[in-house]
Amino acid sequence: MVFGFFLLLSVITAPAIAQPNTRGFISIDCGNSNSSYFDTVTQVPYVSDDRFIDVGSDFYIQSNYINSSVPTLQLNLRSFPDRLRNCYTLKPVPQNTTYLVRATFMYGNYDGKNSQIQFDLHIGVDHWKTMTISDPSAIYTAEALSLATANSTSVCLVNTGGGTPFISSLELRPLRNGLYGEYVNASQSVVLVTRRNFGATKSLRFPDDPYDRVWNPYNDPSLLTLSTNSRVDNRDDLFEPPVAVMQTAVTPKGIRQLGFFWDSVSPRDELYAVLYFAELRNLTGKATRMFNVTRNGESRFSWYTPPYLSIGYIYSVVPFKGYSRYQYLLHPTSNSTHPPIINAFEVYSLMQLTQAATDSRDVDAMAEIRLQYQLKRNWMGDPCAPKAYTWDGLNCSYGPDPPRIISINLTSAGLSGEISSSFAMLKAVKHLYLSQNNFNGTIPDSLGSLSSLQVLDLSCNNLTGNIPDSLGLLSSLQVLNLSGNNFNGSVPDTLLKKAATGLLTLRVDKKGCTKVPSSSTKHKTHVVVIISVVSGLLLLVVVLIVIVWSTRRLRGQDSNTFVQPQSEDHFLQRDHQVSFEGRQFTYAQLVNITNNFTRVIGKGGFGMIYHGCLETGKQVAIKMCFVSSPQGMKEFLAEAQNLTRIYHRNLVSLVGYCMDGNCPTLVYEYMKQGSLQEHLRGKAGHSRGLSWGQRLQIALNAAQGLEYLHRGCKPPIIHRDVKTSNILLNEELEARIADFGLSKSFHSDEQTHVSTESVVGTPGYIDPEYHQTYQLTEKSDVYSFGVVLLELITGRPPLVPGSGNTHIVQWITPHLSRGSIDDIVDESLRGEYDPTCAWKILDLAIRCTANKGSQRPTMFEVVMQLRSCLELVIASDKCENENVYSGDFNVDQESASDIGTNMPGPTVPTR
Ligand SMILES: *[C@@H]1O[C@H](CO)[C@@H](O)[C@H](O)[C@H]1NC(C)=O
Ligand SMILES: *[C@@H]1O[C@H](CO)[C@@H](O)[C@H](O)[C@H]1NC(C)=O
Ligand SMILES: *[C@@H]1O[C@H](CO)[C@@H](O)[C@H](O)[C@H]1NC(C)=O
Ligand SMILES: *[C@@H]1O[C@H](CO)[C@@H](O)[C@H](O)[C@H]1NC(C)=O
Ligand SMILES: *[C@@H]1O[C@H](CO)[C@@H](O)[C@H](O)[C@H]1NC(C)=O
Ligand SMILES: *[C@@H]1O[C@H](CO)[C@@H](O)[C@H](O)[C@H]1NC(C)=O
Ligand SMILES: *[C@@H]1O[C@H](CO)[C@@H](O)[C@H](O)[C@H]1NC(C)=O
Ligand SMILES: *[C@@H]1O[C@H](CO)[C@@H](O)[C@H](O)[C@H]1NC(C)=O
Repeated sequence: MVFGFFLLLSVITAPAIAQPNTRGFISIDCGNSNSSYFDTVTQVPYVSDDRFIDVGSDFYIQSNYINSSVPTLQLNLRSFPDRLRNCYTLKPVPQNTTYLVRATFMYGNYDGKNSQIQFDLHIGVDHWKTMTISDPSAIYTAEALSLATANSTSVCLVNTGGGTPFISSLELRPLRNGLYGEYVNASQSVVLVTRRNFGATKSLRFPDDPYDRVWNPYNDPSLLTLSTNSRVDNRDDLFEPPVAVMQTAVTPKGIRQLGFFWDSVSPRDELYAVLYFAELRNLTGKATRMFNVTRNGESRFSWYTPPYLSIGYIYSVVPFKGYSRYQYLLHPTSNSTHPPIINAFEVYSLMQLTQAATDSRDVDAMAEIRLQYQLKRNWMGDPCAPKAYTWDGLNCSYGPDPPRIISINLTSAGLSGEISSSFAMLKAVKHLYLSQNNFNGTIPDSLGSLSSLQVLDLSCNNLTGNIPDSLGLLSSLQVLNLSGNNFNGSVPDTLLKKAATGLLTLRVDKKGCTKVPSSSTKHKTHVVVIISVVSGLLLLVVVLIVIVWSTRRLRGQDSNTFVQPQSEDHFLQRDHQVSFEGRQFTYAQLVNITNNFTRVIGKGGFGMIYHGCLETGKQVAIKMCFVSSPQGMKEFLAEAQNLTRIYHRNLVSLVGYCMDGNCPTLVYEYMKQGSLQEHLRGKAGHSRGLSWGQRLQIALNAAQGLEYLHRGCKPPIIHRDVKTSNILLNEELEARIADFGLSKSFHSDEQTHVSTESVVGTPGYIDPEYHQTYQLTEKSDVYSFGVVLLELITGRPPLVPGSGNTHIVQWITPHLSRGSIDDIVDESLRGEYDPTCAWKILDLAIRCTANKGSQRPTMFEVVMQLRSCLELVIASDKCENENVYSGDFNVDQESASDIGTNMPGPTVPTR
């Protein structure tokens, strides 16, 4: 017991000496192309600079400058004869962390020119220091303290006409939070002027200084050295000088003043100084050491006594300037029995951050684009700032806010491969010119998130594949030039509609590219506006109808065939005699279509669902007696007419309706593979076998359908009854949402819908917030969709049987805390899924099922997330064969397993 107490005590009181480590250090030996090594003095590992820059040339210093005192680091260098600005990109830098960055330069007459060289150094967009290299055997240093606002930083060498810039080493050291907090913040950095350790005989750095500051000796033979082996307590929030530095000090021989000085580069430099003191002698009795401090004759501090074996410092809180030499004098006060002492000092000059760096998201995106295409050019450092060094091909907006990239011209830039999805991250871009390159892949869907993009010119490339639907989501897009490519899919409806209304100038013809065009004449002679300004309401309406119909026809017949646009008026020529308004069937026609109602493919709570076949051969599903109440009939008609106009590939389209008698009937396109619910739960005679990729694809399809209802329809349509039995699959297992737009007026299906009060929906899928407030929003659909996602992941119904109808969200909570994805994912996948992606989807589902609607993502975000996950999956199992489904599923949109009574209040688990 007693022993335990002492043990505990000693653990607590033993000074926690953290072993210095090099975590976060970036240590680069510039111009050393292949070797990594540990520095002989500091044991810090150094690496070649290849990973941080891809321009410049490597050189060795001349052999007559090499001797044992020249560190390995200085033996070689990288020089930059080309371009005005060349930059190293240092990353990762922990964001919001102050870091020290240091560069060294030893000329060593590497180029045999024996010249004097002057050039500028920048950190990011700010001028750091002007380097003047005059002694070929000297090692010049530049050091600064700065705050990382992004997770990378750049160090640039700028040729100012004073010779070829070069660099020997580059080091970055993160500092503890708060260190130098008086001097460094988001809008202010400082440059080291000098840092001295009194009483030392050699310079001291890592590991004595865990932040690898270099403390050089200050030599003045007229002073006495004091030192101690006792530990000096250096715990301090602001400067934390190393113990070893504080263990030595100097003092005059005799009781008199102590002076030291340094020279400033310019009297205009605004400086900060920190003087460090620690009493190293045990002064007892009457012995005192007390002094006044003056700088250039001005009093800075009076009656100062250094603390015994502990640090004290005097530091400037406002910068000073005006002299080219600054002299500090420490005067002993009249009653002091000992002369002044001093242990160390540091001087920094202010580096005002005058320019804002480019928005860090744009910086990240451009870094990716640069990497993907291996672009050399002058694409280094900050893309937009300083303005004089803006990257070639970019235009930026400058204002009170950080610069944004608004236009990218990569015409004839020699790009090849696919179009980088990073373009989509450049939200402010309005113009993107990528013509005359060798793109060879498809346009990624993610281009759809360039919300401010106004002009997208991808002409004269070698793009293939489909034109993504998502281009239609580019809400600001005014010009889209896709001519001169090899697309083989159809043009998405959304684009056609925009073009028809005159909002978009669209060009998709194959011609129009001469091989080496002068871009201005090319535009004059070849730009053919397919559909530009459509004036006159009538014409507009006709065009719209034609387009809707013609694209529908295309889809209905064979979505894989696409007639290549042959001429500029291609879209106007096709099918313009047909207009479509939703077909009204008579009862007699229904009898005919269904062959006298012979094939039942499902049973609803109100009536049967029959299979039918139109004269054209198109298969349809006929949902009889959709409403029973007479007053619903009028609304039904209006609604049904509306719904026949809504068209999206992920929505089950309503072919027509029948109003005869008291049994209103809806005619839908027939979805051969039945509902998602059947696939997940299995049905007699059918095996469950949706692969992970198929599940993701289905989720994405369904999400796109919902997203269209929420964002593409005016006014937005809230589905109100999203569930797996309302997600139907066609022959290709492409998912479409069924029963949208009807829940509002026509939910009379008591068996499957909770319709107490005014809440409609299916148990297990109902948004708890809606359940409490009766406020229906799009986010209610998001909740239900989240439940669908959980079903897709787990293969379990929303109300998990066997445990008192536990809701799936509650079922999953304990599994989440255990952190095992294998326990959660559907066993029938037999482990064949990507766990990272599964976590992402699970996380998405959890967010969708958040208790509060405001915490749930929008369907747009859901689509984006699913898309990015699916891309990964497709990329990773491109070569694997997906199981192809066979078997004819019946449409059965209402299923007994939906029926439940108690509404659980799902809680939102957090992982
Ligand atoms: C950085 O600091 C700012 C302001 O203190 C804060 O808003 C931001 O979230 C921080 N960023 C990170 C990555 O910590
Ligand atoms: C200083 O010296 C006095 C007398 O010599 C002694 O009592 C005291 O413990 C010493 N203080 C420290 C901190 O060593
Ligand atoms: C120290 O400073 C005080 C207050 O400024 C002053 O009164 C005193 O004379 C100074 N002593 C010396 C030795 O300069
Ligand atoms: C020395 O003089 C200063 C100022 O008068 C006073 O604060 C300090 O206590 C004195 N020290 C001693 C040891 O008397
Ligand atoms: C920078 O940090 C943010 C936030 O941690 C992260 O989202 C982003 O991907 C990082 N960028 C790079 C280029 O690492
Ligand atoms: C894009 O850059 C090329 C060459 O740098 C230039 O000829 C062309 O005019 C630029 N295009 C636009 C639209 O600014
Ligand atoms: C185009 O893609 C094919 C394979 O998909 C590749 O072999 C070829 O090198 C690519 N061409 C260009 C110009 O990138
Ligand atoms: C375009 O791509 C196709 C196939 O990917 C290739 O045969 C053709 O040579 C490419 N054309 C150009 C101009 O790169």
